[in-house]
Amino acid sequence: MGSDAYLAAVRSRRSYYELEARSTIPDAKIQEIVKETLRHTPSTFNSQSTRVVLLLGAEHTQLWNDIVKPAVKAVMPAEGWPATEAKLTGFQQSYGTVLLYEDPKVVSALQVQYALFADKFPQWSEHTNAMHAHVLWTALEQEGLGASLQHYNPLIDEGICKQWKIPEDWQLKAQLVFGKPTGQPLEKTFMPIEERLKVFGAK
Ligand SMILES: Cc1cc2nc3c(=O)[nH]c(=O)nc-3n(C[C@H](O)[C@H](O)[C@H](O)COP(=O)(O)O)c2cc1C
Repeated sequence: MGSDAYLAAVRSRRSYYELEARSTIPDAKIQEIVKETLRHTPSTFNSQSTRVVLLLGAEHTQLWNDIVKPAVKAVMPAEGWPATEAKLTGFQQSYGTVLLYEDPKVVSALQVQYALFADKFPQWSEHTNAMHAHVLWTALEQEGLGASLQHYNPLIDEGICKQWKIPEDWQLKAQLVFGKPTGQPLEKTFMPIEERLKVFGAK
């Protein structure tokens, strides 16, 4: 595959919010995509600090209905709840959720091992996690799925931890919600590229 094919995949990754509780691929293929992402996405010093919890079927529904909804409802003004509830119901009625975590034990060990970079490792752990999110998001969409990246952490961390017995120190960074798209992504605008790129020395 040349860069054109790769960048076509990058270009076609978008945020899809209208999703249904169906998949274009079997669950085994979704799991394979997650495993390949974990194996081959780069991490700081190859530390492999990213952890993933994949929720499908009833477990996915439970996340949005029994954990996210009550957690969000508890902290928001009552008048805003109906619109938020509708949005959360949309996520609930999609196919699955990938919970993206970082393991802070890995970060602490790196800080001890490479004291010179101690203050950088927390930031690099965030970068590592985001790279996983992008690889996964793009790969799922190459299979005809749609996804959006959500951030209901830390409100939902404790509920998830109890429900699925996730190690208490894992830090939840993002939730990638996916399913078969039933609508199109929102229109996207682009800044002039010259405002974002400087090139020196090109032949
Ligand atoms: C680091 C990061 C955090 C994001 N957080 C959210 C979020 O919490 N909720 C959401 O709906 N979209 C979120 N997004 C999606 C962006 O709004 C979206 O990627 C951007 O508007 C470009 O649109 P596109 O994804 O369709 O290309 C996030 C994206 C990134 C890269």
